[in-house]
Amino acid sequence: ERSVTLFEAVGGEPTFRKLVDEFYAGVATDPLLRPMYPEEDLGPAADRLTLFLMQYWGGPNTYSAQRGHPRLRMRHAPFRIGAAERDAWLRHMRRAVDRLDLPPDIATALWDYLERAAFFMVNVLDDP
Ligand code: HEM
Repeated sequence: ERSVTLFEAVGGEPTFRKLVDEFYAGVATDPLLRPMYPEEDLGPAADRLTLFLMQYWGGPNTYSAQRGHPRLRMRHAPFRIGAAERDAWLRHMRRAVDRLDLPPDIATALWDYLERAAFFMVNVLDDP
């Protein structure tokens, strides 16, 4: 007996791919966020985020097999993430979550985590 993971409940990898593809389609057009991504091709970044989220929600541990311990705050240290960057990130993610048409309780669980994680990633104080 084991409980069903959120990874399974949402339909596994294809759902996370869809979420992240939708998110990055927004990032690709975002004047604040797009320049933060060092690579021309957003595909590899999308792949890393997809694998991370799959692992976080109980799916395969492919992210850590490829990238090691997530240590996400440390990995974001090179980027300037203030309230504006956080809010832009969350705006694209909100749209992507809505597009999945998940059952409300699952969408809420997913969103609550993403929102907390985005606030946690902020690494600069805003100007007074
Ligand atoms: C990587 C920006 C929040 C998960 C990155 C990268 C940038 C970035 C520019 C480098 C692209 C790459 O090479 O992968 C931001 C901004 C955020 C934010 C502006 C605003 C708050 C988050 C949140 C999560 C997350 C909330 C998780 C829920 C990741 C992951 C990677 C990554 C897994 C790849 C790490 C690696 O393995 O190297 N992010 N991020 N990010 N981000 Fe974020």
